[in-house]
Amino acid sequence: MKSVNYSKLIFDKINSMKPDEPEEVTLIKISNDDKVGSLINLLYCIKESAKDIHYNYCNGPDFYSIHILMDRICENLDDYIDEIKEKYYMSLGMEVPSPINTYSQVLNLLPEKSNLNILKCFINDGIELVKTLIGNCPGFDDLLGKIASDLLTKVALVNKSIRRGE
Ligand SMILES: [Fe+2]
Repeated sequence: MKSVNYSKLIFDKINSMKPDEPEEVTLIKISNDDKVGSLINLLYCIKESAKDIHYNYCNGPDFYSIHILMDRICENLDDYIDEIKEKYYMSLGMEVPSPINTYSQVLNLLPEKSNLNILKCFINDGIELVKTLIGNCPGFDDLLGKIASDLLTKVALVNKSIRRGE
């Protein structure tokens, strides 16, 4: 269940990357048992990673714009999590993942200190995961499409900020 070492290896790789270096890094191991649960975990990771940057981004002229951008990244995420829990788990009569279960998995994925590259990887993982779910969850595609569209905009914004030089 624990994936601490796996995460650490990846975070070390990300932290050693240059800002413009292209990378294909996946931060989350998707469980086939509950891909929707993995999506919830990723949305939390995006939110907490963005909030970490919101508060702790290095000092300098970019601070304020990044501070504000991180609030933009967090927009809608809580609503998506709520809608997923209601429209997927509850509507199907399934048990909604418990907070302790979700947070324990999220804790294993979050780095001690986040940065724009890590945030970008979380968002990209979210987009890839949503793509695998679209068409496979009847009645749920509108919400998934909305999430994918929003995450694409967000990763574009983060990309631009990385190119300006993290
Ligand atoms: Fe704030």
